[in-house]
Amino acid sequence: MESPIKVFSNWVLSGKDVGMEKNHYGSVKNMIEYSTKEIGKFSFLDAGCGNGWVIRNISSNPNCEKAIGVDGSSNMIQKAKSLDNKNDYICSDLLHWSPKNKADIVHSMEVLYYFENPETVIKHIHNNWLKKGGRLIMGIDHYKENKPSHKWKQETSITIMQLLPKQTWLDFFKKVGFNKIKSWYFGKDGIWNGTLIITGTK
Ligand SMILES: C[S@@+](CC[C@H](N)C(=O)[O-])C[C@H]1O[C@@H](n2cnc3c(N)ncnc32)[C@H](O)[C@@H]1O
Repeated sequence: MESPIKVFSNWVLSGKDVGMEKNHYGSVKNMIEYSTKEIGKFSFLDAGCGNGWVIRNISSNPNCEKAIGVDGSSNMIQKAKSLDNKNDYICSDLLHWSPKNKADIVHSMEVLYYFENPETVIKHIHNNWLKKGGRLIMGIDHYKENKPSHKWKQETSITIMQLLPKQTWLDFFKKVGFNKIKSWYFGKDGIWNGTLIITGTK
C-alpha cells in the first residue's frame, strides 16, 4: 500500500496522468460552466491540480484574472510547470497551504477523498482559500452510490480512499459553513452513477 501522493507521482513517470484529462474532461467542463456562469472576472484555484490541465484551460478564459494549481506530488507539479510558464503551480499538501489572496472559485476534481478526514480539508478551503461569496466546487467519482468505484482502493493499493455516501459529503459542506449548497450527478450511464458534484458559497 502506498500514499496517494506516491501513487500519483508514479503515474507521471508512466504517463498515466494524461488519461485523467480524458476521463475527467466532461465532468470538469460541466463544473466549470456552472462555477463561471454569471460571475464576471474571477480568480481560480485548483485543489489537487495533477499535471495542471485544468489551469492551462481556464487561464485562456478572458474573465480569468489569476489561476493557481496546487498538488502534493512534486512530479505532477514539475510536469505542470514544464508545460506552462504563464500560471503558478505550487507543490504542497492542500492542508498546509493557503493563498496570499483568497479566490473567487476553488475547483477540485477527484481529490478530496484522499484525505483521512475530508471535513478538515473542506473547512481549510472554506476558511483560508475562499473570499466571502466565493465558491467551492468539487467532483468525485469514488463514493458509496457509485458501485463500480468500490473496487478502486483494492486495485490501486492506495492507503487512503474514503468511500462515503453523498449525504456525508453534503453534511461536511453544511458543517463548515457553506451556503447555497447544491449537488448533482454528471455522466450517469448504466451502473456508472456519474460524477458526484457538490458546490456551495462562503
Ligand atoms: C485523481 S488525481 C486528480 C488530478 C486532477 N484533479 C485531474 O482531474 O486530473 C488526484 C490528485 O490529488 C493529489 N493529492 C492527493 N492527496 C493530496 C494532498 N493531501 N495534498 C495535495 N494533493 C493531493 C494527487 O497528487 C493527484 O495529483
